[in-house]
Amino acid sequence: MAKGIEEPVTVTVATTTTPSNLSAVPHLVKELVEEAKCLESGCNEARQALAIKARTLVQALETPRETMIKHCWAQPAVFAAILCGNECGLWKLMAKNGVRPQRVKELAATLDVDPVLLSRLLRHLGAMGYLLEVGEDEYKPTSFSLSLSLPIMNGGYPSLITMGGPAFLNLHEYERSRDWKNPTDAKDSPLMHAHKTDLNYFGLAASRGYLEDFNNHMGGYRQGRLPWMAPGFVPVQEVLVKGAGPSPEAVFMVDVGGGLGHDLLEFHRYHPAVPGKLIVQDLTQVVGSIVPSEENRALTPMAHNFFDEQPIKGARAYYLHSVLHDWPDDRASEILGRLKAAMRPGYSKLLINENVIPRTNAYWETSALDLVMLSLLSAQERTERDWYDLVEGRCGLRIVKIWSGGRGVESLIECELK
Ligand SMILES: C[S@@+](CC[C@H](N)C(=O)[O-])C[C@H]1O[C@@H](n2cnc3c(N)ncnc32)[C@H](O)[C@@H]1O
Repeated sequence: MAKGIEEPVTVTVATTTTPSNLSAVPHLVKELVEEAKCLESGCNEARQALAIKARTLVQALETPRETMIKHCWAQPAVFAAILCGNECGLWKLMAKNGVRPQRVKELAATLDVDPVLLSRLLRHLGAMGYLLEVGEDEYKPTSFSLSLSLPIMNGGYPSLITMGGPAFLNLHEYERSRDWKNPTDAKDSPLMHAHKTDLNYFGLAASRGYLEDFNNHMGGYRQGRLPWMAPGFVPVQEVLVKGAGPSPEAVFMVDVGGGLGHDLLEFHRYHPAVPGKLIVQDLTQVVGSIVPSEENRALTPMAHNFFDEQPIKGARAYYLHSVLHDWPDDRASEILGRLKAAMRPGYSKLLINENVIPRTNAYWETSALDLVMLSLLSAQERTERDWYDLVEGRCGLRIVKIWSGGRGVESLIECELK
């Protein structure tokens, strides 16, 4: 046996039907009961840690075969049922009916869907715990299924599972044909390979009619996360407002690739008295779908491709949220270069709101998002080192401070011209 190579582990078929870690179960249950007491404090981090422990408990109880069947049958079948529910209006109808028990026959008649089909879809969602089965072909909604009636919750399924699914599921084929290299070419992504297209994720989503779903999904992703402009995270007054031009015509913040303007609206809610304009820039189709309303009166939408020259010069802040992680370093530095050229020395700030993925113990949402970026866009979530290499090394800007919001929460990377 060559040096450094250990004896191979003999895996017998019996392994597949033996619970993964049964001996750990009593201890895990005891810990769960003990740690559940901290839920009373309302601490979100403690709740998330408990959910991870509960997952460890399920994994310990399951046999490898059960885990495999869950992955290969049960989870894809859940996605299929949820997508059908989106499409035929099931989630909206169930939410309209309220939390009472609902019969498949009546739901099917209202939706004009074959009751046999609906019964099969709901049976699986019931079996997986996403609906409560209260009798034969009769279900009560759960808070999850009620939430699916909201576009911010249901938009991720078509825009990421229908669109992104082929990229994930064929990643191994893409990698086999690319000699197992880490993808870093925005013009040759696993998504393009899987869909046999030259369009990138955003172009493909637009051409398939899923861009609105994606933007709604972005509105859902942000829920329940501490925004950087909230008290106790970044001291906005000190970092941005102090020293900003007082004229209402001056531009206070440009949200570049800002989608429907969720971030600027949230900023305005927290800081309504800030002077100057709040401009949201995105692709024409995206800003074109911002419907003027009382709520978004504070926003100025502007169509702008962030690879082109930045038309707004000398704003107090240029802001990028979940934009640079969509692009590999060469393209990300082009976006940063356009902003650098528009910044006013000693005045403008560049604010990057993104994950700083830790070198160990990454939160599962962040590690998942990294693979979403890899598969859909040949891009990545970045570590602190990666951010310094990109912002300072490649682009010649200076990172003033990385404001951290805690585990699994995006940081705010405050940058200036050197
Ligand atoms: C991941 S989303 C982030 C949206 C928003 N900043 C947020 O956090 O909710 C990336 C955004 O970049 C936009 N985008 C993609 N390519 C663009 C381009 N070339 N110019 C401007 N915006 C672009 C997309 O339309 C999308 O709204």
